Amino acid sequence: MLCIDRLDARYGLFQALFDVSLDVVRGETVALIGSNGAGKSTLLRAIAGAIKVERTSIKLDGRAIGGDPEHSQIANGIALVPEGRRLFSNLSVEENLLVAEGAARKIGRKGEWTTERLFKELPSLAPLRERPATALSGGQQQLVAIARSLVMNPQILMCDEVSLGLSPVAVDGVYQLLRKVRDAGTAVILVEQNVSRALAESDHYCCIQKGRVVLKGVSANAEYGRVAHAYFGS
Ligand SMILES: Nc1ncnc2c1ncn2[C@@H]1O[C@H](COP(=O)(O)OP(=O)(O)OP(=O)(O)O)[C@@H](O)[C@H]1O
Ligand SMILES: [Mg+2]
Repeated sequence: MLCIDRLDARYGLFQALFDVSLDVVRGETVALIGSNGAGKSTLLRAIAGAIKVERTSIKLDGRAIGGDPEHSQIANGIALVPEGRRLFSNLSVEENLLVAEGAARKIGRKGEWTTERLFKELPSLAPLRERPATALSGGQQQLVAIARSLVMNPQILMCDEVSLGLSPVAVDGVYQLLRKVRDAGTAVILVEQNVSRALAESDHYCCIQKGRVVLKGVSANAEYGRVAHAYFGS
């Protein structure tokens, strides 16, 4: 479905990604693995349209969409849950979701994920719906951030640093939701610092080192030592 083909990405004169190629299939999870500064967030930002890249370096169902602005990529069904969540602090949990759902509907994205459905799927959030979104625990906020992207009914959901700073129980909650999303046919691309967890939760993995893909494969067949080597470098 999504084909990243020899993608380069730059911040001004600094080149952050070199020749990155990666395919993502509908209904599967891909984990991006790499140390700090490797280029994982840059790759997600490039796919989300936040960084200008060559048009043909990103294709969705065969159509070149690289470099399209963020609102076009959302209309294309690409949603990013950014690092740090960035919820609207002056809005309640429910309002955060309704604003996103309303905006998505205006650009023609609607489907099975609605605010109401998400409160059913996430019973721990339902009693908190009136609370200011930032008056929640980190794990609860992460669920809201993912829910806010889901109400846009994406074909591809990208989550940056999905479990950063969360308790083990909160991490389990987040992955439970992501498994449901994948099983419903959405592709998931996630960045996870915990290598074992990243492999356990994904169908494919892709290791990035200094802006280049150094290893990729089927997660179930991954050799931990090789992935760790690709992660930490020599
Ligand atoms: N806005 C920016 N302007 C200039 N350089 C940037 C910018 N954002 C990131 N970079 C650089 O691009 C490279 C890749 O950064 P990126 O944020 O993609 O790494 P990452 O793999 O997500 O790391 P982390 O695990 O720390 O989040 C780094 O060298 C970083 O310093
Ligand atoms: Mg990052």
